[in-house]
Amino acid sequence: MSLQGYAPAHAAHSTAQPRRRFRPRPPRARRARFADREERFLLQRLLGAGGVCEVWAALDLRRVEWSDATPQVAVKRLLPDLARNFQAQLALAQEFCILRQVAHPGVVRVFDLHREPFGLCYSMELLRGRRADEAAALPDAPVTPMVARFFHTLSFLHAQGIAHGDIKPSNLFLEPGGRPVLIDFNVAAAIVRADRSLPARGLRESPRLEAYNVLYSSPERLSGGQPSAEDDVFSACCAVYELFSGAHPFQRRSSKEAEEHGLTPSRPPELPVLLWPALRRGLSFRIEDRPSAAALRRAFASWNTWHQCTARVRNLFTQ
Ligand SMILES: Nc1ncnc2c1ncn2[C@@H]1O[C@H](COP(=O)(O)OP(=O)(O)O)[C@@H](O)[C@H]1O
Ligand SMILES: [Mg+2]
Repeated sequence: MSLQGYAPAHAAHSTAQPRRRFRPRPPRARRARFADREERFLLQRLLGAGGVCEVWAALDLRRVEWSDATPQVAVKRLLPDLARNFQAQLALAQEFCILRQVAHPGVVRVFDLHREPFGLCYSMELLRGRRADEAAALPDAPVTPMVARFFHTLSFLHAQGIAHGDIKPSNLFLEPGGRPVLIDFNVAAAIVRADRSLPARGLRESPRLEAYNVLYSSPERLSGGQPSAEDDVFSACCAVYELFSGAHPFQRRSSKEAEEHGLTPSRPPELPVLLWPALRRGLSFRIEDRPSAAALRRAFASWNTWHQCTARVRNLFTQ
C-alpha cells in the first residue's frame, strides 16, 4: 500500500503546510561515525578471563549505528597469545556453534561469530546478575525454585545429547528474578549414546578442550573419562550443595581424594530435609548410584509445589 498523498481527515481542509512523513531513520551523524569502522565491537570492560579466553562488556557498533536501544553485549575472545592458534580458534567456533543450537532461557544466548582485527570472537547476551561463586549471591531469591530451574536446563541439555563438562559455581550466573544461566561451553561435548546414534547437532568430530575442574569433577572424569551426563550431575550437585551451604561438599578436596578418605557430606541446614536423599545420591562416587538431571528436577519441582500448597493452607488458617 502506498502512503503517497495520504493525509489525515482533520487535515483535509487545512491551509497549513503538509506534515513531513515519518521515516524511522538513524541519525546521520551516528551512522557516519560508525559505518566505516573496521571493527564490529567496541570492547569496554574486562568481565573475566580463564586459561584460554577472556570476556568483555562491549558495544555492538552495528546496533549503535542503527539505533538499537540495547547495543550492550558480552564478547568472548581468545587470549592475545592464543589469537592465532588454529586449534584454539576451532574450539571457540565450536563453542559458538553448540550454543547457537541451544535455545533455552537457562543457557546464555549467543548472537554472532565474528572476525575482528584482534581475532575470532563471538557476542552474547550481557548478563547482569551475579556468579554463583560470588559472596552474597543468593539471599534475594528463594534457592529451591532456582535449583529446580537449573536442573531443568541440565536435563534439557542432556536430552539434546550435550554434556557441559565444566559445571561449577563460576560458570553459573544467577540473574535477577531467580533465573540461573549456564555459561562457558568450552569443553562441552556430544554425549556418546549407548545406541551409537548421531551426536548432537552442531558438534562435529573435532578436538575439544581437554579441561576439567578438579574440585567439581566426578571420579570417573578425573580418571581420564570424557564429559558425560553423569559427570555433569556430580558437578551440578557439588555446585548446588555450595549454593545452599556456602561450602564445598568434600572440604575442597577432589572427588578421588574424598573417596580415598571415605568423606561423606552432611546435609546443609538450609536444604529441605526431603531433598537431601536426592542431592546426596547426586554426590555419589559411583556412576550407577547417581540420579539423572531430570529426576533431580522432578524432586526439586515437586518440593516447590508442595511447599507452595502448604504455605497457602497455612495462610488460610492464620489470616
Ligand atoms: N555473558 C556474560 N555476561 C557477563 N559476564 C560474563 C559472560 N560470559 C562470561 N562472563 C564472565 O567472564 C568470565 C569468563 O568467562 P567464561 O566463558 O567462563 O570463560 P573461560 O572459558 O575462559 O572460563 C566468567 O567467569 C564471567 O565472570
Ligand atoms: Mg569459565
